[in-house]
Amino acid sequence: MAVKPELRVENFENMAFGMFVHWGLYSIKESGEWAMEIHNISSDEYEKYADEFDAKNYNPRNMTKLAKKVGIKYIVLTSKHHEGFFLYDTNGLSDYDAPHSAAKRDLLREFLEACREDGIIPILYHATLDWHESHYKSDFNTYLEYLRKSVEVLCTRYGEIGGFWFDGNWDKRDADWKLDELYGTIRKYQPNAMIINNTGLSRRGQLEHEEIDSVTFEQGLPTPIDRSNMNKYVSGEMCQTMNSHWGIAKNDFNYKSTAQLIETLCACRKVGANYLLNVGPDKDGNLTKMQEAMLEVIGQWMSINGKAIYDGNPCNIQGYNKDFALTTKEGKIYLFIHDLKIVGNKNVTLGGRVDNPRAFTNLYRKINGVKWMDNNEELIFTQNEEEGLVCVNATGYPYGTNLVVRVAEVY
Ligand code: GLC
Repeated sequence: MAVKPELRVENFENMAFGMFVHWGLYSIKESGEWAMEIHNISSDEYEKYADEFDAKNYNPRNMTKLAKKVGIKYIVLTSKHHEGFFLYDTNGLSDYDAPHSAAKRDLLREFLEACREDGIIPILYHATLDWHESHYKSDFNTYLEYLRKSVEVLCTRYGEIGGFWFDGNWDKRDADWKLDELYGTIRKYQPNAMIINNTGLSRRGQLEHEEIDSVTFEQGLPTPIDRSNMNKYVSGEMCQTMNSHWGIAKNDFNYKSTAQLIETLCACRKVGANYLLNVGPDKDGNLTKMQEAMLEVIGQWMSINGKAIYDGNPCNIQGYNKDFALTTKEGKIYLFIHDLKIVGNKNVTLGGRVDNPRAFTNLYRKINGVKWMDNNEELIFTQNEEEGLVCVNATGYPYGTNLVVRVAEVY
């Protein structure tokens, strides 16, 4: 039975677009957040990074202001990653935290203040796997209580948190993680917080506990969520790196194109999932120029098409190839049209055409008109209401633009 989403899940889904931020001691090394494990750095060696981690030029407002401008509604920040270092004041639980590092202050608090200033919802990534805390290997139950307490601190000392995004249970698949206690702590203090627990690369989209509010699709396009047998409405979210690492990696040049990111954002919304795009800031917690520039480009696209991204929901209307449609609660329909050409002159653009028929099926509502969201141009269309068939002449991109995915509004 499909059920109505709880308010927190509905709100989460409506946010549509989030930013993932991987920031920790590994940001000093600039070679990915798994460096400690993969490069075999001992705990003693690694701990020295904490004495260097001064976050001198940390200015989280730069990030939250940019997020707001780009149309990003929430940020998922690593309060603790697998390296075990806490970005916040653990209140006596551990010395391996920001106030005991060279920063000598609570960096998470500064981040949360910035989020609140700019109306960004903060969600906290919290690693369950821990390479630093020795009990993780030697006395798992003691470790679990340490983990739970570290979350309790987050729940009780920082005001309202939008959600908790766990990661690492895949490291001990068969262990009893005492999730009822962990999730119970969150429900007790933060009843409106989302609970997410990344199922990892091999179990995308799987629901592994009844308290989970959203399934994850790490680095993979989300599939439609089959809610027919669920006794609660669960949302979906795809997280993706801009290059090949989550934490900053200086010599990783494998950036995706902004066109790919725009297409991926759209593909997520096609099935109603959120898109969580990752950035790995530098050691000071500031985004690199490249990350900022890529976000700016997506923000420009969002300033034209954002409405369709936030308000549109999956529907039965079918497009062909990558084309698809979303509908709003008010009955508006948005057509997401891909792979057009720039219309122009054959000496400068590659043969853009003005005739570009695109068909949609299962569209039975009588339509009055179709127009592009970017320039309000009215499109010629034909409709066979009985057959539910609509054909739109999707004129190409006007010279001077390339929208990558061009969105038309049907009214
Ligand atoms: C993986 C990685 C981790 C990263 C996460 C983000 O689980 O272990 O480093 O933070 O994916 O989804």
